[in-house]
Amino acid sequence: MIDPYKIRKDFPMYRNNKKMQGHDLVFLDNASTTFKPDCVIEAVNNYLMNETANSHRGDYDLCFNVDTRVEESRKSVAKFINAEENEVVFTSGTSMSINLIAYGYGAKYLNENDEILITQAEHASNVLPWFKVHEITGAKIGYIPLDKSGRLTPENVSKAITPNTKIIAIAQVTNVLGFLIDVKEIARIAHEHNVIVVCDGAQSVPHMEIDVKDLDIDFLSFSAHKMCGPTGVGILYGKYELLNKTDPLMSGGGMNAKFDMCGDVKYVNPPSKFEAGTLNLEGIYGVKAAVEYLNNIGMKNIENYERELRSYMIKKMKEVPDIIIYNEDAEAGIVTFNVKGIFAQDLATYLNSQGIAVRSGQHCAKILVSFLHEVATCRASIYFYTTKEDIDALVDALKKGGNFLDAYFA
Ligand code: ALA
Repeated sequence: MIDPYKIRKDFPMYRNNKKMQGHDLVFLDNASTTFKPDCVIEAVNNYLMNETANSHRGDYDLCFNVDTRVEESRKSVAKFINAEENEVVFTSGTSMSINLIAYGYGAKYLNENDEILITQAEHASNVLPWFKVHEITGAKIGYIPLDKSGRLTPENVSKAITPNTKIIAIAQVTNVLGFLIDVKEIARIAHEHNVIVVCDGAQSVPHMEIDVKDLDIDFLSFSAHKMCGPTGVGILYGKYELLNKTDPLMSGGGMNAKFDMCGDVKYVNPPSKFEAGTLNLEGIYGVKAAVEYLNNIGMKNIENYERELRSYMIKKMKEVPDIIIYNEDAEAGIVTFNVKGIFAQDLATYLNSQGIAVRSGQHCAKILVSFLHEVATCRASIYFYTTKEDIDALVDALKKGGNFLDAYFA
């Protein structure tokens, strides 16, 4: 059982009674980023204060120690998602992970006869890299239709696959509508057609148990900062044989075994092949601490708690006059809404004046706009430290805001 009030004691952002516009901060933008517990901050500080040295480059104890820490962190991530250690690549975040696959695999193997399938619900990070692959190779981009509610179903995937399809790139949980997609079934269907599945896990991995072997997806990307870890560090998981076939996105130190003046280069094996340059070492220290922290709370507990809180949120938000909720039936702790007649950014600005942080706009999912028939929406997103009081504060502010906002737009 999760007690968010007890959990908050681990987070300086809560312990320090952070205010916004003179109100106690109500943070409901966790799909964007999350707060960091002490153990993550301490791990980052430990690198900066006590253990600073480069990895994989030195012949002295400080370096050996950093090497050990990096590999321990990799091991903790591998265990967290049930991957092998050599299938876990450290990147700067989800965007870099997907770019790595797009350029290193997509641009290498696809041609103008091929097709990449995505959906209208994808974040820019899972659209624009594939547009680049189209530009480079001529491969076509196809959109798998969403169902009426905005969910991607395995049935629609089955119907959309053609003999030309080579890659399906989809989010396991979409960042605006928060639907949990059956990527296991989608991977099964895709593999029957020799199609690989590139899964954006930015909004799923922080919130639920993930077993990449069971899901049988080919690639998975996620960011540490959405799971209590530091910014600027993320993960690319790939099946080892696919990583082996993939070209590195970046070249430089640490990823080559040898090169000569004729331009012949021999890369080292994955994952180091993809880790050119000095890594975000303090970030990687933080990743291990974040994974351990989440494991201690328990991913199943997190998932259950968030499901329950989401139901509460939907029930309460429906009390608000003129509310439009776009994803009532979704699974994730993301609720996307508007109040009739009020522009989303004005609503978010008003909520800010009440100390409440939500995101407004298009949430980087710009091709979802034509599906929703809205230019902008507000999005409230929870994590395991969110309380019912936070939800009540949002709902009270929305109810109270009615008059204020009506007057403003009169
Ligand atoms: N990807 C993040 C979001 O959806 C930034 O808000």
